[in-house]
Parts: sequence; structure tokens; C-alpha cells
Amino acid sequence: MKSLFQAGRPVLGEKLIGREEILEKIIRLLISGHSVVLIAPRRFGKTSIVLEVLSRIKAQGLFTSYVDLFATPTKRLLSEQITESVLLNKKLHKAFSNFRKSFSSMMQQIEFKQTIEDFEFILNFAEKNQDELTLLTKSIDFIEEFTVKYNQQIICGFDEFGDVEKLNKEEIVKLFRSKIQLQQQASYIFSGSQESVMNKIFITSKSPFYRFAQVIQINEINPDIFKKYIREEFQKISVSISDDALGRLMKFSKGNPYYTQLICQHLEYFIISAQKSNIDIVNVNEAIEDAFWSEINYIEKLWEELSAGREQTQVLISIAKDTPSIYKSLDLNQLNVSRALRKLKTKGVIRKEKQLYCLIDPMLKYFIRKDILKWDTPECV
Ligand SMILES: Nc1ncnc2c1ncn2[C@@H]1O[C@H](COP(=O)(O)OP(=O)(O)O)[C@@H](O)[C@H]1O
Ligand SMILES: [Mg+2]
Repeated sequence: MKSLFQAGRPVLGEKLIGREEILEKIIRLLISGHSVVLIAPRRFGKTSIVLEVLSRIKAQGLFTSYVDLFATPTKRLLSEQITESVLLNKKLHKAFSNFRKSFSSMMQQIEFKQTIEDFEFILNFAEKNQDELTLLTKSIDFIEEFTVKYNQQIICGFDEFGDVEKLNKEEIVKLFRSKIQLQQQASYIFSGSQESVMNKIFITSKSPFYRFAQVIQINEINPDIFKKYIREEFQKISVSISDDALGRLMKFSKGNPYYTQLICQHLEYFIISAQKSNIDIVNVNEAIEDAFWSEINYIEKLWEELSAGREQTQVLISIAKDTPSIYKSLDLNQLNVSRALRKLKTKGVIRKEKQLYCLIDPMLKYFIRKDILKWDTPECV
């Protein structure tokens, strides 16, 4: 049986909860010709939002395109993805993909031949040694040329845009900026999880995209909306969940989309295999523990990276303990503490909430409390 809860893959339609206002705002901006930037830590739901936005816009009859920069490690691949996703609007993407593999077979297909006549640059893809930057430049131009030809508006999603770092960031960001600002019929939605990289591209006054796009920060999902959703999902299999249990789950996850879903998935496995019909606080504690073990590789790797410096380690531990005054609590030079705090903030590991620093990843906090501080499991939540 398919799980009630999805953890990992993007969620769409009814499975995407708590984002209605943001979705409507983004769609309004894009359709009126503005561009948008979504910034949030990994697994906060950026891809889900981008895909849902594009799907709703497509349903209104506009053109859309979606490219994930995580999956395009070279300029050539990025150019191919851009071109293919634009052609998809006229269902020519398959023909294009076959064309890349076998040039001659495609030239026989009438409809594709016609497209090539209109957009000769596509022929460049038949050449293995074609200059990659030229291809990319032309594929960005192609976005607008294609929409002008069909007299349409297009909304383009560039997911994990911070990954342009892997290519030649400066060159590509400048290229995008110079092309996009002149386009009349295309709007863009960029998303990214590396806060520091996204800041450098879009937010700081020296950034190439400064004031170009509306920046939207994505946060956790409202816990009340999540609670209602979880209760209703479990009701579908005639399982009830107590208020205490839900409270415990939210105390841990604070509405973090991925971990909340992951824990619910573990709860669901457990409840089905144990043939129980109600979920209590003990079950939630166990599900958190199960989720912790399923994420252990990731968390350990993260900890290894973060705890490389002594100051950073001590600051993280102090934050994990919910210490009210980090500076006072540590026997460290104030300057070093402030440097560690700044580094952790730019990496998107901590943030300030009501004057207090806290860890953004609840599983990292759980790990530090449990494995480093050796607290008893129930106190780790
Ligand atoms: N709006 C949402 N409603 C419910 N679950 C969500 C939502 N957004 C994200 N999730 C959960 O988080 C996971 C990761 O979402 P995704 O969109 O891939 O995040 P990102 O692109 O920021 O890494 C999803 O598989 C799902 O479990
Ligand atoms: Mg994503």
C-alpha cells in the first residue's frame, strides 16, 4: 500500500499543505511579469512550491518550463534542459531528445523540421564540440523567441539556482541577468537552499540580481495546519492520534515539512504492523527515534563538517542546550563566538528567534543532545 505520507519526493496538489498564501502571491507576481526568488534550507518545500506554481500556471494556459540545476552539472546539459523544457510546451521535447541522440532520424519528422526552421540554433546541439557558453546564451534567448513565436507568456522555474556555483558562477549569473532583463514575455522563479550563495546572487547590494526579483523566504509549515492534516490522514485508515502525541511531534519538528512527514511515515508503518488504532506519545517518541536512525548518515556528516572548529562546536552545543546567553555561557573570546555565530548563520544552520539563537534542523539538535551531550532520549525532544 502506498504510504499516506510522503517524505523526500516533492508534494503537489492536495498533499502540499500550508502554502496557499505563498502560492497565490507567487503566481500573482509571476503572471504580472515579476520574477521571484525562493530561499529556504533544504527540504523545506521549495521544489514542491515551484512545481505547484508551474502546474497551476500551465493549467491557465500559459507556457512554463522547469530546470533543476542540481541535475545539470555542465553548461551543455543546462542548455539542453532549458531548450527541452521550453519545447515541452508544444510537445516537441521528445523529438528534441531523440534528435540529440540521432540527428538524421529526426530530420525526417515534419513537425520537428518545421521547429528547426524557426529556431536554427537547435542544430547546434548536433555538434559535439559546440562552444558551451554559446549554446547556453542561445538557449536563454530561445526561451523568449519561442514564446514570441506563439505569442505567449512563459514562466520559467530554475530550481537549486545556487548550484550555478558548480559551473562558472560569475559568468553564468551575469549572462542570465543580461538576457533576462530584456525579455518581455518571460518571468522567472529561482529557488535555492544555500543561503549564502543565494544572498550573493540576489540580495546584497553588489549582487547581479539586486532588486531584480522579489525574494520570498520559506519557513516551516504552520503547526496547526500540519496537525489537522496529520489527524485527517490517519483517519483515512481509521487511526486516531491523541492531542498529546501531536503536541509532542510538533514540539520536535516545529512544522519542519520533511521531518514531520518522515516521522508520520514511521508512525504509519508501526501502527499498521502492530495493528493498533490509536497513536500515543510513546509511539511518537519511538517514531522520532526511528526517523533519527534513518537520517543518521546525513546528520553525522553534517556534524563532522560543522564541528571542524572548536568555537563552532561549542557554540552549537550551547545552542542545542537552549542556553539563553551564548556569550556568557562560553569560556571563549567574544570575537570568536561572534565569528562562529556568523558562520553558522550564513551556512543556514542557525537563526535567531525572539532574541534566542536556535538550530534550524531539529534532527541535528536531537543528535547533539542525544549523542554528544548524552541526555536521556525523552529530554532530547
Ligand atoms: N507544503 C508541504 N506540505 C507537506 N509536506 C511538505 C511540503 N513541503 C515539503 N514537504 C515535505 O518535505 C519534503 C521535501 O520537499 P521539497 O519540495 O523537495 O523541498 P526542497 O526542494 O526545499 O528540498 C517533501 O517530500 C515532503 O515530505
Ligand atoms: Mg528541491
